[in-house]
Amino acid sequence: MTRLDTLLWEVLPYVAITVFVVGHIWRYRTDQVGWTTRSSQLLESRRLRAGVLLFHLGFFAVLGGHVLGILVPESVTERAGVTEDMYHAVSVVAGTGSGTLMLVGFVLLMARRGADARLRTVTTRTDKLTSVLLGVMIITGMYATVGENLIAGGYNYRETVAPYFRDVFLLRPDASLVTEAPIVYRLHVIAGLLLYMLWPFSRLVHAWSVPVKYLTRSNILYRRRGGAARAAARSLT
Ligand code: HEM
Repeated sequence: MTRLDTLLWEVLPYVAITVFVVGHIWRYRTDQVGWTTRSSQLLESRRLRAGVLLFHLGFFAVLGGHVLGILVPESVTERAGVTEDMYHAVSVVAGTGSGTLMLVGFVLLMARRGADARLRTVTTRTDKLTSVLLGVMIITGMYATVGENLIAGGYNYRETVAPYFRDVFLLRPDASLVTEAPIVYRLHVIAGLLLYMLWPFSRLVHAWSVPVKYLTRSNILYRRRGGAARAAARSLT
């Protein structure tokens, strides 16, 4: 194993986790007002709606697949009676479907931004970098799922990439597990670590601000200008 392998697989994950945690604390304490999606809905809403919906639906499905495929060990699913063949079939179908939704949503959102001069103006350098990393994640993830797992016959990442990733959180990362994996899996993980480092400084922080209070708070009452004065005058008569 080379020194670069040690740096990439045993040091970088901890740098990424530290930047992710400390970066979020810093952003929360210093930029409450900027902690938003920086929505561009006011500039264009029709094309946004379709892209955002597909992208997020795909993302949540992909997230579910990652939890199942990476955080749940193969031994657990085997004990539950799920053979490797069964797992492989479900993961390829579900992974391809959810990844495609996310990809189509992403392409729509990128096309929308590129096509409109006003949207291009409000796009920051951090937005661009976030989009590049998301694009790399989706392309490498889809290549792994469709190229390696569906077309090329199958690669069992649950014996290499998945245990490697879990071991990072158990403070015993083993680079030799992941250096065996096809390059597309390695690129996927490195781009993921870079994305986690960018996360706290980007609009992705909105992911932690699900507006659950919307469900229970009272309605906001909008009145016409002068409406309050008229209501006060009425109450006097
Ligand atoms: C660094 C942590 C991550 C690891 C270890 C990881 C690992 C994997 C693996 C092993 C696959 C291939 C599954 C297969 O061959 O069937 C995959 C697919 C995929 N990943 Fe990731 N991933 C990570 C983070 C992410 C993130 C942050 C995103 C997007 C924001 C993402 C998006 C995708 C997509 C779109 C696919 C293809 C669809 C699917 O199989 O669900 N991944 N990932």
